[in-house]
Amino acid sequence: MALPTVEPLTPPTGSSIDFGATINNVDLENLTDDTFSTISNALHTYLVVIIKNQNSLTPKAQYELTRRFDPSATQYGHGKTVDAKRSILHPDLKTIPHQPQVQVIGHGFVKEYEGLKDIHLKHPHHRTFHRDAIPDEDDYDFTRFYRWHIDAALYDFYPPRVTTLLAVRVPNGRRQTLRYDDGSGETMDVPLGTTAFVSGERMFELLSEEDKEFVLGSRIEYAPHPYIWMSPAHSRPTGLGLYSENLELPDSELPPIDPAKIQVLPMVWANPVTGKPALQIHPSAVRKIHLKDGSVIDDLARVREIVYNLQRPAISPQYVYAHDWEEGDLVLFHNRGVLHSVVGAFGEGEVRLFRQCNLAAGEGPLGYTGTSAA
Ligand SMILES: [Fe+2]
Repeated sequence: MALPTVEPLTPPTGSSIDFGATINNVDLENLTDDTFSTISNALHTYLVVIIKNQNSLTPKAQYELTRRFDPSATQYGHGKTVDAKRSILHPDLKTIPHQPQVQVIGHGFVKEYEGLKDIHLKHPHHRTFHRDAIPDEDDYDFTRFYRWHIDAALYDFYPPRVTTLLAVRVPNGRRQTLRYDDGSGETMDVPLGTTAFVSGERMFELLSEEDKEFVLGSRIEYAPHPYIWMSPAHSRPTGLGLYSENLELPDSELPPIDPAKIQVLPMVWANPVTGKPALQIHPSAVRKIHLKDGSVIDDLARVREIVYNLQRPAISPQYVYAHDWEEGDLVLFHNRGVLHSVVGAFGEGEVRLFRQCNLAAGEGPLGYTGTSAA
């Protein structure tokens, strides 16, 4: 077999994305150390990498590839917390019985897949999460970013280093217009059911010098059991964080809270290979901001407003990579250097089947220690 080659993506007209690459000539079932190191370097340099034609990749090989990025990790990124019926993540995932770190996601009815039988998959629809949804009559043609996020439990378990996503079945490609609906008038033409990515490194670069100072000195405290806590709350139309309407569940309605498991993470994470800083905040799970001087902002509405203003510039259309899925695409993303979102609304009979794997990391993300912008 020829040696692997790494080819950076060419941004489409009007786009200024500076991340993403395709890797060719890799055999993932018989992965050598050299090939793995090519993949790992590409992942940390380009943040999102695409390996085509992986239709026959086994769940075991997908798990082993994912684990190679973090040999100390063994369990799914959310541990067993997605089993909690009240978690907003619960309806979206089905676990592969013989490889429980790998989840099946998608849309529609599938008779049998990898030991799962008669499964009904549901692609998350923004109307279940956004406060104000696109009216039904426009739903076929228009869509939103569902929820910008990092794949992370954010309570007890550390954020996974990498997520791998394999497209097993993809419905025929039509396109939709994605609306921001935040008064900006921004829209994007996207493939049906795209996964959208933005670079946390670009998100950091776009900040003013003053904001860079602020994020480098501040840490984010996440809510305990965040996906249960936020379950009654509603998203902004950009999918970038929540409205503050006092709907979050009080501690008394959450599972028991162990204060030692609450996560307080740096806002800026260092890329473990290139050293570059990335602004990495999970916007809908934020609870408090810990400032450099030791004081804490705990007014939730204010915390959200601050985070929104830091992140919003970097989700404008020119910074978004919307992957156009084809069957057999394996996409790996540096979960500690990008934010991503599900997009799209499938119609009746549009069946999609994906496999997703990420693993709770053995260690927390590395805070960026540079004192000024690189
Ligand atoms: Fe995700």
